[in-house]
Amino acid sequence: MTNTSPQTPVPPLLEIKDLAIGFGSGGYLPVKGLDFILRKGEVAGLVGESGSGKSLTAYGLMGLLPYGASFRRGQIIFKGSDILALPPRERRSLAGSSMGMIFQEPLTALNPVITVGEQVAEIFRIKLGHDRRQARESACALLSQVGLPNPRAAYSSYPHRFSGGMRQRVVIAMALALNPDLVIADEPTTALDPTIALQIIRLLADMTSQRGTGVLFITHNLRILHGLACRIFVMYAGLIMEETGERGMTDPVHPYTRGLVAALPPNPSQNEGKTLVPIPGQAPGPRDILPGCPFAPRCPEGEPRCSGSLPELLPVAGGGKVRCFKREANGAA
Ligand SMILES: Nc1ncnc2c1ncn2[C@@H]1O[C@H](COP(=O)(O)OP(=O)(O)OP(=O)(O)O)[C@@H](O)[C@H]1O
Ligand code: SF4
Ligand SMILES: [Mg+2]
Repeated sequence: MTNTSPQTPVPPLLEIKDLAIGFGSGGYLPVKGLDFILRKGEVAGLVGESGSGKSLTAYGLMGLLPYGASFRRGQIIFKGSDILALPPRERRSLAGSSMGMIFQEPLTALNPVITVGEQVAEIFRIKLGHDRRQARESACALLSQVGLPNPRAAYSSYPHRFSGGMRQRVVIAMALALNPDLVIADEPTTALDPTIALQIIRLLADMTSQRGTGVLFITHNLRILHGLACRIFVMYAGLIMEETGERGMTDPVHPYTRGLVAALPPNPSQNEGKTLVPIPGQAPGPRDILPGCPFAPRCPEGEPRCSGSLPELLPVAGGGKVRCFKREANGAA
């Protein structure tokens, strides 16, 4: 007999609900209330200006908040459980095995006095109980998968002998060693030249799509996300302002996202002749308390009601969401 009942939707891998992160106990709130979902096998982009709260969000997900920071509100539901409600030990163990992080500067993620191979092998020894020989074989296999030309020689080399791109390959190997369900990549290519950056992005995309890993890719550079991310969350002053639907960045609705796209340097390969239009003014700091839309002081389309109350992040045609009172006027009804 055929089962005609409607299929149960696959639960998200990660669901963030109204997440707020602050320092101390006052109103210093760099992350003011985030909501987003990431599914298994998806690459989602998190973009925003410097200081918008991208890295704090990433560290919060990994359970690595800096000293003085704490969660003020919200939930992080990972594989069905609210990880903020777990005892700290369980939470650390989850972050160590089911989540992996790739940092901007690979040198800070690698120990300079231990060979790269031993750093990878240690993960197999500690987390999977491999003996030394097994751990060495698994590490060499992984170093080969991330494209190190001579993995056995690489195994015995120290990080400073490698170029930035090679080091980032090692960091990717370490993040993927335990086949995590989620990888958070915080500006993993900012320190690399554009050609190497492209190779690293392709490697990360290939390795995670083979494994069905969910990826949160954090960047300033919207262009990098083109063709990589199926959804992009645009962050501003600790809030999501727009979540792109299938239209991606080709037709953004929020005035801030449109400003970001206009501020993209022209793509020389397409010789589009576009001029770069910077967004005037500065984003509010984490201590600034604005009752209304945080983009209002810079918004070319603002009106008096925008400074009175905070618009909600609401669904729009095309599958995305926008936080703007004028979303309908901007063609997103
Ligand atoms: N340890 C800290 N103590 C105090 N404030 C902090 C600390 N870490 C971050 N902040 C503040 O929190 C805000 C968000 O920082 P975060 O590092 O998340 O920004 P970001 O979006 O990752 O920026 P960038 O693109 O420059 O990496 C910033 O205003 C920053 O000054
Ligand atoms: S709510 Fe108003 S100020 Fe904010 S982005 Fe929309 S139009 Fe601009
Ligand atoms: Mg950052």
